[in-house]
Amino acid sequence: MRHLREGLEAAVDVIVQYRESLPDAVVGSLATRGEVVDALPTSLPDGPAALDVVLKELVAVAEPGLVASAGPRYFGFVVGGSTDAALMADVVAVGWDQMAFNEVSSPAALAFEDVAGSWLKQILGIPASASTGFVTGAQAANTVGLAAARWQVLQDHGWDVGKDGLHGAPKVTVIVGAERHATIDRSLRFLGLGEHVIEVVPAREDGAMDAEALDGVMRASRSGPLIVCAQAGNVNTGAFDDLRRIAELSKSHGAWLHVDGAFGLWAGASSHTRHLVDGIELADSWGCDGHKWLNVPYDSGYVFCARPEVHAIAMGYTAEYLTGQELDRQFGGGDFVPESSRRARGFATWAALRSLGRTGVEHLVDRCCGLARRFAAGLDAIDGVEVVNDVVLNQVLVRIGDSETTDRVAEVVQTGGVAWIGTTTWHGERLIRISVSNWSTTEADVDMAIQAISDALVSVRT
Ligand SMILES: Cc1ncc(COP(=O)(O)O)c(C=O)c1O
Repeated sequence: MRHLREGLEAAVDVIVQYRESLPDAVVGSLATRGEVVDALPTSLPDGPAALDVVLKELVAVAEPGLVASAGPRYFGFVVGGSTDAALMADVVAVGWDQMAFNEVSSPAALAFEDVAGSWLKQILGIPASASTGFVTGAQAANTVGLAAARWQVLQDHGWDVGKDGLHGAPKVTVIVGAERHATIDRSLRFLGLGEHVIEVVPAREDGAMDAEALDGVMRASRSGPLIVCAQAGNVNTGAFDDLRRIAELSKSHGAWLHVDGAFGLWAGASSHTRHLVDGIELADSWGCDGHKWLNVPYDSGYVFCARPEVHAIAMGYTAEYLTGQELDRQFGGGDFVPESSRRARGFATWAALRSLGRTGVEHLVDRCCGLARRFAAGLDAIDGVEVVNDVVLNQVLVRIGDSETTDRVAEVVQTGGVAWIGTTTWHGERLIRISVSNWSTTEADVDMAIQAISDALVSVRT
């Protein structure tokens, strides 16, 4: 026991020192994957090692290969940094090591998922009666939402996909926007529907689905099981589909509406951005992330379903030995996710929400959006740099001359260590892609990143 205390205290020191170093850290990694492997002993050790030896080796070898993505100047992908409260609760949750399958395996884990789920729905504008599954991220959330959709639309056409599978089933059509996230196609592959069930609705210039074109696509689709997958927050531009109009059209065609709101659903937390998710409550299922904008440690995502019984039928299971799986049970935990044994994800989300409160989450969203606008204004003021998108949320797209120059500037910034920015191809052009999603980012951090981009441009030009 003494050894455990010493080991954990040493581990806490590592965590605290690392977190405290983040504001001044080199943002990109210092070692490649191969270099990290080379620094590890290659042969499997024969015998045991003491905790201090394990920790020392782990930290010494891993740290050069870490990316300071939890820090304030990491603007790649869409990455949050985990708030202190969420981090603390997750560390405790690992120590408790709960099996969060059902309320017999861990009453506390299920209860915290119940309460955190209800808080999430309040903040995001999702009906209180919806079910919540705590999953690994938006990929999993969208897959589960679409699994529930698949079950219901086939049921509506007299087919039980749970029992009979997809062989011989009525063909399901899934209508998506042209600028959907790539994980939606992957979800459809996982679900055995395949990419060929997709009917694409053209996107507007900003990447949002053209809601009026949706009507035409729906009319042209054969009558049959129909799922519409809309998007709240395009990963490049931050643009939002017109959810109210899409919900009306989906309803009138008897389609199930799923909304992928990996980060954009958080717009509902602020009075300044709530209009972007107008109509959100009308959907049938929703996918969202905790590890992006709520700044909960990886991995954390949420799937909500307007019909909890459909959610549970699509995902749940039982077995004779599984105490606590009585038919009249209150659904939760393993009923709403793809895993059976699973970690207790509700504690960290609860802690993030408990520490921030409703106004704290609103402030987090507002701050990031304000900083994204600061980024845009600062970059636009640099000669030869152009912001391409309307910065409606936390995403900024930037053109620096031609595609080659843009890529070269991004590379210089990435290797420079001051900040990390991403790249993308948008409308055939290479662009810099910036996402402001970290709770700890300050105006000074944004200004440093702008300066780094400006300096990189000078060095690329010379
Ligand atoms: C709109 C959207 N959907 C889905 C995903 C996938 O999320 P995750 O990587 O958390 O599974 C992302 C990731 O950026 C996203 O932006």
